[in-house]
Amino acid sequence: MPQEAARHGPKSPLKWAGGKRWLVPHLKPLWQPHAHRRLVEPFCGGLAVTLGLMPERALLNDVNPHLINFYRWLKTGLRLEIEMRNDAALYYAYRARFNCLVQKDQADGKEAAELFYYLNRTGYNGLCRFNRRGEFNVPFGKYRQINYATDFSAYQHVLSRWEFTSGPFEDVPLLPDDFVYADPPFDVEFRQYSREGFTWEDQVRLAEWLARHPGPVVLSNQATDRIVHLYQRLGFELRYYEAPRMINCTGDRTPAREVLALKAP
Ligand SMILES: C[S@@+](CC[C@H](N)C(=O)[O-])C[C@H]1O[C@@H](n2cnc3c(N)ncnc32)[C@H](O)[C@@H]1O
Repeated sequence: MPQEAARHGPKSPLKWAGGKRWLVPHLKPLWQPHAHRRLVEPFCGGLAVTLGLMPERALLNDVNPHLINFYRWLKTGLRLEIEMRNDAALYYAYRARFNCLVQKDQADGKEAAELFYYLNRTGYNGLCRFNRRGEFNVPFGKYRQINYATDFSAYQHVLSRWEFTSGPFEDVPLLPDDFVYADPPFDVEFRQYSREGFTWEDQVRLAEWLARHPGPVVLSNQATDRIVHLYQRLGFELRYYEAPRMINCTGDRTPAREVLALKAP
């Protein structure tokens, strides 16, 4: 295993906005005393954290069904057979085909998983955005070169131990003993809706849902004043971090001050 992978676990197979690979060294000491527990990520995104912590048991959820469909296919040892090129015409043809599968209710098949990977690697900034009709509408990216993977068998063994669900965070069936790491879309102060439609009311419901969980909880978010007050009011311990420059959910690359809110069982 290359040195980097040995330290932080295998890399996510996808580019995912808000990825927390950089947080893994800070999360490891919080997780290790609980490593006998099941790790639950209600907002698993690109899996950077779970792949970094490598739990024996995990329940991984995301509201994005295409992302979860891709992971479920990874569990079968996915091999990509579609032609992949960094080419605008091919990108828009595959985007149209993917949207056709979505419309025909066939978005849970292998073809949709293959196209999802290609669109993620080739589209603008790895963004995953849909219009009101549920169509993927991210434009072609601006990469000079893309190294596409075709053989994902290395992930098969790792993911085979983990369970995947797709739905809103409140539907995740938590067990009292679970260790929960929650990484919701960033709170964007002074705006009612974030780009992903995660509202301030969602942030408050999440905080209260986490506060009710009897097991250990770690939450990460942007350290806006209202997030800090919310978790302080609910009795969480707070720690602050400077995030490195990376794409956030809006494609913006400015660094952000982030907060971890911790609750012991
Ligand atoms: C900041 S990203 C998580 C990144 C992840 N921790 C990583 O390191 O790759 C937030 C994720 O929350 C998901 N999401 C948004 N609203 C949600 C909801 N109501 N319930 C569950 N997941 C949601 C998004 O699809 C996105 O993948």
